[in-house]
Amino acid sequence: MNCTGLFAATLLIGLGYSAVAMAEPVSMDRAEKLYDTYCAQCHGMSRNGKGINTVGLSVQPRDHTDTKAMSDLPDDQIRLVIEEGGLAVNKSILMPAWGEAMSAEEITAMVSYLRKVCKCGN
Ligand code: HEC
Repeated sequence: MNCTGLFAATLLIGLGYSAVAMAEPVSMDRAEKLYDTYCAQCHGMSRNGKGINTVGLSVQPRDHTDTKAMSDLPDDQIRLVIEEGGLAVNKSILMPAWGEAMSAEEITAMVSYLRKVCKCGN
């Protein structure tokens, strides 16, 4: 193997490792921490839509403990609203997009975490 071949092989192995690392599933604990960091200021530490940031918001954030209302939302819609924000699902722009801040695996974990919070299946 010449030098270029060795370099290419090393690069491929490196890429393989990072792809595996990126595809690792995200734990519920991590999803809960992400919620505290990104979502709780609006959706509340109690997950009931009454975060400290909601004073003066013209549209109130979703109560994620509301089993009935959350049951009406399919996983696809929850995923989309987290990734692209309220406007993507014809809801308020006050719900921000998180696709830049969170990885696809983190968003998948967040959808599962929200199902745990609402105690509702899909
Ligand atoms: C700046 C405040 C704010 C933050 C931060 C925020 N949200 Fe929201 N969210 C809203 C508002 C307001 C709505 C209600 C939108 C509507 O009903 O038009 C909403 C609605 C939602 C909905 C329901 C969407 C639907 O179709 O009814 C989900 C799910 C959601 N947010 C998840 C999250 C998650 C997960 C995070 C953190 C990653 C987050 N939100 C962070 C304000 C926020």
